[in-house]
Amino acid sequence: MQKLIVEGGRRLRGELVLQGSKNSSLPILAASLLCREECVIRNCPALTDVYAAARILNCVGCRCTFSENTAVISPQTVTGTAIPEALMREMRSSIIFMGAMLGRMGECGVSVPGGCELGPRPIDMHLAALRKMGVDITEPGGSIVCRSRGGRAKGAKLTLAFPSVGATENIILCAAAAEGETVINNAAREPEICDLCGFLRACGADIAGDGGSSIVIRGRDKLHGCEYTVMPDRIAGATYLSMTAAAGGEMILDNACPAEMEPFLNVLEQTGCSIYTSGDRIYLRSGSRLRAVRDRIRTMPHPGFPTDAQAVLMAALATAEGTSVFEENIFDCRYRHTDALVKMGADIQILGKVAIVRGVPGLHGAPVEATDLRGGAAMVCAALAAEGISEISRICYIDRGYEKIEEAVRKLGGRISRV
Ligand code: UD1
Repeated sequence: MQKLIVEGGRRLRGELVLQGSKNSSLPILAASLLCREECVIRNCPALTDVYAAARILNCVGCRCTFSENTAVISPQTVTGTAIPEALMREMRSSIIFMGAMLGRMGECGVSVPGGCELGPRPIDMHLAALRKMGVDITEPGGSIVCRSRGGRAKGAKLTLAFPSVGATENIILCAAAAEGETVINNAAREPEICDLCGFLRACGADIAGDGGSSIVIRGRDKLHGCEYTVMPDRIAGATYLSMTAAAGGEMILDNACPAEMEPFLNVLEQTGCSIYTSGDRIYLRSGSRLRAVRDRIRTMPHPGFPTDAQAVLMAALATAEGTSVFEENIFDCRYRHTDALVKMGADIQILGKVAIVRGVPGLHGAPVEATDLRGGAAMVCAALAAEGISEISRICYIDRGYEKIEEAVRKLGGRISRV
């Protein structure tokens, strides 16, 4: 098992080209199943989850190759309607293949994705919406078998109880090839939803309203191929900015998406960092000690503060002057990284969904274990700010979301190696 060794306590300085978005690439790769011609998807990050998505595409009969951040998919030959359990278990997001397979083939067999590091992750909203679209769903012994009545799903008026990102994506994927019009009320508004819709529109889909709470999709008989560039990864961007905020220093993030990162940047700015944006670049300077954030940092669906950036910002605020308070409203188990931060000298108290972070003057290096993707990234942030050496194990979690994290950190002048 590989580890990251970080020698902290040094200011960071450098320029970094931000990777493409993982959370966009996965639904877009699934969406390519709906097309009848080749799709070329650029700016896909080279990540284990992206490779898992490519394996699923291959498994159902597409030809999918991946090199230099470009996926080329030939979906003309789709034959399979089932994803084997072993592939489903490789990543939880495999569930978004459900909508795409229903759209293309009118049926699919997948397995229940189960819980993950963030706690139970039910898919009740996905299933309820698909049922309303005329899909019969049975769940024999841990698997999910879906069949559209008449071989094709029907458009429907749907209202989500919560703006779930995955449920919104699954519905869009199924609806893009369904018969008639689908309306999703209380839809997720995350930028990755707009990216998925952008890809589908480039393939000829009829979708309007994405980015707002109500999305209207008029199903098409056939979608064609396209060339598409995935948006930048706003969470990886938030992570590298948090590292520089935590360790002190200055950096430029290229190929970023400042507008989509605004909910994060607005909070980071309150720590006293200077942040300037120009086009797709973000400049950050972290001078003296950070200040605590005065208002409670509440994770909320977009355009609220992103839950995926909670852990990395917490690592930066661990050494801020004053007390910051987080409130995690999206996932039940999203404070598992705090034990590692405390081991490194942080003062963090968890009370249900609230975390109270009392800033300490400094952290010290320690051996820690990544608990989940963003929690692991938070440990790298803290390790860069800490005096001494940290050893971070179970980095397979980190590799799910960050393309060669050690190379990116070294571009910023950080001392880090993978052993
Ligand atoms: C996606 C992102 C993840 C991010 C999250 C919230 C991807 C690959 N992952 O995950 O990084 O943290 O959005 O921004 O894009 N829920 C239900 N029933 C459902 C569906 C969801 O109760 O049918 C609950 C979940 O348990 C969770 C909340 O809704 O508590 C949000 O989940 P959702 O928005 O669906 O997140 P994901 O799509 O899984």
